[in-house]
Amino acid sequence: MPNVPAIEFRQVEKIYPGSSAAAVTDLSLEVAEGETVALIGPSGCGKTTLLKMVNRLIEPTAGMIRVFGNDVRSSNPVELRRGIGYVIQQVGLLPHRTVAQNIGTVPELLGWDDRRVWARVDELFDLIQLDPELRDRYPSDLSGGQRQRVGVARALAADPPIMLMDEPFGAVDPIVRKALQQQFLEVQKRLGKTTVLVTHDIDEAITLADRVAILNLGGILEQFDPPMAILRDPANAFVMSFLGHDRGLKRLSLLPISSVKLVKGPAVSRSASIEEAREMMERWGVDWIALADGDVLHGWVPGEELDGASDLASLALRRFESWLTSDASLLDALDVVVSSRTSAAAVFDGDRYLGMLSAETIGREIVT
Ligand SMILES: Nc1ncnc2c1ncn2[C@@H]1O[C@H](COP(=O)(O)OP(=O)(O)OP(=O)(O)O)[C@@H](O)[C@H]1O
Ligand SMILES: [Mg+2]
Repeated sequence: MPNVPAIEFRQVEKIYPGSSAAAVTDLSLEVAEGETVALIGPSGCGKTTLLKMVNRLIEPTAGMIRVFGNDVRSSNPVELRRGIGYVIQQVGLLPHRTVAQNIGTVPELLGWDDRRVWARVDELFDLIQLDPELRDRYPSDLSGGQRQRVGVARALAADPPIMLMDEPFGAVDPIVRKALQQQFLEVQKRLGKTTVLVTHDIDEAITLADRVAILNLGGILEQFDPPMAILRDPANAFVMSFLGHDRGLKRLSLLPISSVKLVKGPAVSRSASIEEAREMMERWGVDWIALADGDVLHGWVPGEELDGASDLASLALRRFESWLTSDASLLDALDVVVSSRTSAAAVFDGDRYLGMLSAETIGREIVT
């Protein structure tokens, strides 16, 4: 069956018993197979409720949820959950079970024999890069980041096609969080699982997700688009305020240097005359000149050193301290450019000189 969404919410509503307001209001969205979708919104906007309706820990008041085309109401909840790994908000490891036992929980419940369970646990230690020394420790003796990793490993244990992750990198410091995000991207590249991930952090959503669903209180879907589209065209004031003031910079973080046209910059051949070098500097309005031939960048010299020099070849060349490779983001590039003496960064692909990036070029990307 081609093009059946892995998960489909169709006009879903949830009103908890005894409460007057809806936790989720008329929400429709589809998650394609292999896609990572981030759910983001203020506390209490129904993110956890949405996840739990997928694996039937909570039943909707109205509407329908389908998993690979099947109405979840017609599936046995236990069967359904076999195909859905769930990383619980606040991790929720079982305190009296060791790390290895925690990770093996679902395979054990599925009746795998011990050897197969332990082999799978080993595999996951490897995949999530957990120190094997942690196997027999208890969750209380782990760092926050380690606990988060164990939570993810446990959800992956039975190799479910769908992963629901509720703030999987919530309770850790920013550095550990970055590392866990990076690892998520790598693992995801290998496994390609359909993933719905809840986060409070817009930068995390932008970095990790193919599409981001921005929710408002009452579980109202304000926008559901790829990160780039959200940053470029926020649907309304709510989304705009959610993205914050540095929307332009966030966009830059998603754009690789290779997305802009590079020019060779204020550069002349090493065999050019002093006059030609001066003209080039004037044309660019800079007080330095780069010497380049084809895809070889020799270096640069400050303009004042041209005074009295007989030819360029006699000048001592400076190396470009500010350089980048073409796979870096424009945000990385901006950082290098603003801290460089030349207000420009040389871009390389390996040894090949591709061109020069100036603050101006990058600035154009922010506004367009
Ligand atoms: N079992 C419940 N009974 C009644 N109301 C509930 C129940 N669970 C959640 N709610 C309410 O439903 C709304 C949505 O809750 P939910 O846990 O889905 O929010 P959330 O977006 O996950 O929030 P957070 O970011 O703080 O985790 C909240 O107003 C919450 O108080
Ligand atoms: Mg929640």
